[in-house]
Amino acid sequence: METSVAARPLAKVATRRVEDLSGPRGLPVVGNLLQMDRLALHRSVEDWVDRYGPYFRFRVGSRRFVAVADHAALAGLLRDRPDGVRRSAKLGEIWGELGLPAGVFLAEGDAWKRQRRMVMAGFDPTHVRDYLPSLARVTERLHARWARAASRGEDIPLQPDLMRFTVDAIAGLAFGAEVKTLESDDEVIQQHLDKIFPALFGRVMSPLPYWRWWRRPSDRRLEHAVVEVQKAIEVFIAQARARLAADPELRNRPRNLLEAMLVASEAEGSGVGDTEVAGNVLTMLLAGEDTTANTLAWMLYLLARNPTALERAVREVMAACPDGQLDHERLDRLDFIEACAHETMRLKPVAPFLGLQLLRDAVVGDIAMPHGTLIWGVMRNDGVDDRYFPEAAAFRPERWLAEGGPAQAASAAKRVSMPFGAGPRVCPGRYLALLEMKMCMAMLLSRFELVSVAAIDGQDAREQLQLTMNPVGLRMRLRPRERAAAS
Ligand code: HEM
Repeated sequence: METSVAARPLAKVATRRVEDLSGPRGLPVVGNLLQMDRLALHRSVEDWVDRYGPYFRFRVGSRRFVAVADHAALAGLLRDRPDGVRRSAKLGEIWGELGLPAGVFLAEGDAWKRQRRMVMAGFDPTHVRDYLPSLARVTERLHARWARAASRGEDIPLQPDLMRFTVDAIAGLAFGAEVKTLESDDEVIQQHLDKIFPALFGRVMSPLPYWRWWRRPSDRRLEHAVVEVQKAIEVFIAQARARLAADPELRNRPRNLLEAMLVASEAEGSGVGDTEVAGNVLTMLLAGEDTTANTLAWMLYLLARNPTALERAVREVMAACPDGQLDHERLDRLDFIEACAHETMRLKPVAPFLGLQLLRDAVVGDIAMPHGTLIWGVMRNDGVDDRYFPEAAAFRPERWLAEGGPAQAASAAKRVSMPFGAGPRVCPGRYLALLEMKMCMAMLLSRFELVSVAAIDGQDAREQLQLTMNPVGLRMRLRPRERAAAS
């Protein structure tokens, strides 16, 4: 069966086949791998878009990809899920091989539909509002940590500190228990997770699955960490169930993601149970920590380089919450901060590509692609193109506000820049992520003066693709605002 998944009126009939596409010439066995920047694979593919256009072929080892960089075609593909398109299977295979239960990110078909329903219950806007007190406690801990560094005049290692912030925020919500990496390095569960997530990424990127034939000591440590994490999650689930049994009112107003997912899983006909809840506890950590931390790091980097935008952000925060205390009403007033987040994600999307696979024959753009085609969705192409965003290379948050003018109206812009994906599998955590970002920025800008954010070598921050795309080696310097005012 052929179906057109192109979102805008492109050729309804294919004029090309995958074999007609050009692309970089590869080598036997490794394909184009050696031509790619190992630490920034996404950049290599983006460079090829400049050379070969929005559709081309390339190979990573034995895997043949078609790169698709046109935003409308990408949106069409993303909307055609779960029936016509799936996520590429590699991460799921490696996750399953480790014995980890699959969550919504890796599930497909009917299993995905059931899990998505359960997960969405946790992201219901009224529930997300109820998570505010938990997020506020974590933001206060970040404040205490940064206040210590600022009073000593120390540089702050930006990305690791922001990771502690998002780990405490999301792990707290997903486990339903306080996690305090901002205060101590002794969080045992986090020490296990720190072994699991980087190893997962390493295995996804490994050209050969060496661990199937030969287990190194690090592979054994990884297996041990997986067992320990699973045991810990079982305990968290049991504790949350006990709380729900003791206080039935929690069923209507769960205080965290775990309680919300458990209540949804217990609903008649949900089709999901404790295994799926456990899989999604891990999924929240995988999908929700690096992404938000790295977006915040990029945002601070871009603001530090754009003093006019920074001044406006400070003015907005000081007007909305001069004491740094936050509630929903005050957070709702931080429109410019939210625009800064959108502008950051346009220039520095932490998921710069999405791996997809066709589940049926399809016409993408003007190209006939057979069932099984692997697609490398280049998510940062049209979003940094002057055709869609005038002076696209510039950091101009105001383009996301109504005052940006009709050509840049936010809704049109959001169809081109899709940092949270699109369609039925669009990121369910996006409002929570924006909430965390606003809380962090409001705390920082109201209590400190941002003195500098720069890479250690003083050069432009390099992009590195690990689980997500992060800036390398950013250091931040802050000055307490009272002192700034006094001096
Ligand atoms: C700035 C922060 C974030 C960014 C940029 C981001 C980006 C993304 C992207 C690009 C996807 C794939 C969407 C698609 O396939 O169309 C995704 C999926 C997902 N994200 Fe996020 N995300 C962020 C924060 C979060 C947070 C805080 C959570 C949860 C705590 C979360 C949970 C998920 C889940 C569960 C999925 C899988 C959805 C599905 O397959 O149905 N994300 N995210």
